[in-house]
Amino acid sequence: MSYTPNDQRYQHMEYRRCGNSGLKLPAVSLGLWHNFGHIDVLQNARNILHLSFDSGITHFDLANNYGPPPGSAEETFGKIFSEDFKSYRDELIISTKAGWKMWEGPYGDWGSKKYLTASLDQSLKRMGLDYVDIFYHHRPDPETPLEETMMTLDLMVRQGKALYVGISSYQPEEAAKAIQILKSLGTPCLIHQPKYSMFDRWIENGLLDLLGKEGVGCIPFSPLAQGLLTNKYLGGIPEDSRAASHRGNGAMEEDQLTEDKINKVRQLNELAQQRGQKLAQMALAWILKDPRITSVLLGVSKPEQVTDSIKCLDNYHFSTEEINRINSILK
Ligand SMILES: NC(=O)c1ccc[n+]([C@@H]2O[C@H](COP(=O)([O-])OP(=O)(O)OC[C@H]3O[C@@H](n4cnc5c(N)ncnc54)[C@H](OP(=O)(O)O)[C@@H]3O)[C@@H](O)[C@H]2O)c1
Repeated sequence: MSYTPNDQRYQHMEYRRCGNSGLKLPAVSLGLWHNFGHIDVLQNARNILHLSFDSGITHFDLANNYGPPPGSAEETFGKIFSEDFKSYRDELIISTKAGWKMWEGPYGDWGSKKYLTASLDQSLKRMGLDYVDIFYHHRPDPETPLEETMMTLDLMVRQGKALYVGISSYQPEEAAKAIQILKSLGTPCLIHQPKYSMFDRWIENGLLDLLGKEGVGCIPFSPLAQGLLTNKYLGGIPEDSRAASHRGNGAMEEDQLTEDKINKVRQLNELAQQRGQKLAQMALAWILKDPRITSVLLGVSKPEQVTDSIKCLDNYHFSTEEINRINSILK
């Protein structure tokens, strides 16, 4: 059966300008880190992508190493793209990244021109694309000169293999340098992808201010702390949850569900209920309340979680009292 997208797909999503660029992203984007590997069910991956696009989610975020095994999320995406989305290419923003270990030897990791160039070529092949919309350097490399890494990003744009470039997990000082180098090369840094949630607020110490000042977009990853900031772990660990599935590659494990965390989640859940939201919706809304945030980068294991999560857009305004309550719970 061929896929026909919902013709109402642009009616309900909000699109936010990415920094000072010409590009707008949906306020909720979909990440394919987990649940799209070869170990996962292809039809479920397809259903998630269909429902996302039908809901106005135009941005899908990948990386060379997503799976497991590494590379397999791009292959899954490539298969579904070629069968269902090819004629909608111009309605999609597809990103990928390199920076974590992808293959053996000295050229399969970090930030050299050799690694990044080869990796993007591999990603394009796996996804069956001529170009990606955004290519990221996935994490800072303490050894490669930043100039080499940034010149490689600039080259990718000039070669037409990426339309825009970004950085991920760079601390404020190194992000400032990267932004300046890219600016001097004539390829502005479009976006920064940092980890950010109610449980991990490091970007409030300088990074968000920098991005706001420089006109660079911000798309936080793991906005639900991998599922912890939902009501799913309040009654134990469900069998089909990420914490129970031991997927590896950075996926959360049961030991991250500490009593202290669950206690905070319980209090946040009560506040969400008072706001007429589910905790997942409040946790996403809490991020989107800041206008410097372009989009939240959501992960889902089931299509229903897409529908549920995007309801965060119904209310992302918080009273001072609610903000104070959240801060005191998180202390
Ligand atoms: N740049 C980087 O270094 C980096 C690192 C990590 C991630 N990322 C990007 O960020 C994306 C998102 O990361 P993430 O998957 O950790 O994000 P997340 O949104 O914090 O967690 C995703 C998990 O939350 C649960 N969930 C989502 N919506 C829900 C809902 N409405 N109700 C109940 N549970 C819900 C699901 O858990 P269950 O699976 O238990 O159902 C889902 O798998 C990734 O796919 C990737 O694109 C980037």
